[in-house]
Amino acid sequence: MPGPGTAATSDPSPSSLLPRAARVFVAGHRGLVGSAVARRLAADGHEVITRGRDRLDLRDGEGTAAFLREVRPDAVVLAAAKVGGIMANSTYPVQFLEDNLRIQLSVISGAHAAGVPRLLFLGSSCIYPKLAEQPIREESLLTGPLEPTNEAYAIAKIAGITQVRSYRRQYGASYISAMPTNLYGPGDNFDLATSHVLPALIRRFHEARTSGAPEVVLWGTGTPRREFLHVDDVAAACALLLERYDGDEPVNIGCGEDLPISELAEVVREVTGYQGKVVWDTGKPDGTPRKLLDVSRLSALGFKPAVALRDGIAATYEWWLGQEPAS
Ligand SMILES: NC(=O)c1ccc[n+]([C@@H]2O[C@H](COP(=O)([O-])OP(=O)(O)OC[C@H]3O[C@@H](n4cnc5c(N)ncnc54)[C@H](OP(=O)(O)O)[C@@H]3O)[C@@H](O)[C@H]2O)c1
Repeated sequence: MPGPGTAATSDPSPSSLLPRAARVFVAGHRGLVGSAVARRLAADGHEVITRGRDRLDLRDGEGTAAFLREVRPDAVVLAAAKVGGIMANSTYPVQFLEDNLRIQLSVISGAHAAGVPRLLFLGSSCIYPKLAEQPIREESLLTGPLEPTNEAYAIAKIAGITQVRSYRRQYGASYISAMPTNLYGPGDNFDLATSHVLPALIRRFHEARTSGAPEVVLWGTGTPRREFLHVDDVAAACALLLERYDGDEPVNIGCGEDLPISELAEVVREVTGYQGKVVWDTGKPDGTPRKLLDVSRLSALGFKPAVALRDGIAATYEWWLGQEPAS
């Protein structure tokens, strides 16, 4: 079910590019994004088709093509990918490049071969140049060098965008790409070795509270600014794009606002009820000072995020507490 503050379900107009009660294959339906997209499409009245990795490895081109021919969905959302943090990306660039290229080749070309009329491919904001002008516009794609730590992943994703565009140009396929910002929400990864910043903060403050630790030490100065979007909002944006967007250019998905990591930490501290001190270890690196997507293209289609950051963090914290025995 959609989470707190989630935008109302869409009521596709007769001109919607996604038919009413469409049959949609969500690739990666067990992941953070895919599970939210599947929930949203089902709530909108569509039939969601899924196939777990145990039954279909999407790197297998022939198996994927046969599956798509058999089920012949009205649309495909490609939310399956090999995803990971900086450490995983820099340790396993071969897998990040090859798995993603294979998944994209199997799913996008398999969908076209099966006559699937509509497809949404999900990339990530890391496809943009490391020094792209802020807020980052879609036009900055391929205008400068990438962040070296996730270059293999980003290049695979850029190949996916080019593949989608090529199917549009050569075959007139109604295939599109979207680039979400940093996401969080139920289903997030809370493993401190591989998690993103928000679930890591939630876990650290929670553990500090339950163990009675007097302080929590965080890396850097707390001044870098980042943007966060709840997965229910990204799912709403995906549904909107499937209904209304049919362009050559990728579309950024974000909330259009960022905040310093220190403010984010303060919200998480309050939500988790931690009363101790927050200490910034300023000897540790800060990373890029700012990373914010320009979301004018998505806003022009009528998208407004519905989940306030504090509410979304509280709901994510509650979800995680329900998963893990409290420590
Ligand atoms: N999370 C973010 O903050 C974020 C931000 C921007 C963009 N995105 C984009 O959103 C997409 C999904 O990300 P996510 O965060 O939802 O990742 P995730 O939670 O790791 O989910 C990825 C999904 O893909 C499936 N998958 C991976 N390899 C597969 C294979 N060979 N065959 C079949 N299924 C396979 C996984 O299956 P299993 O469940 O079996 O492992 C999982 O369900 C990615 O393209 C990512 O770049 C994510």
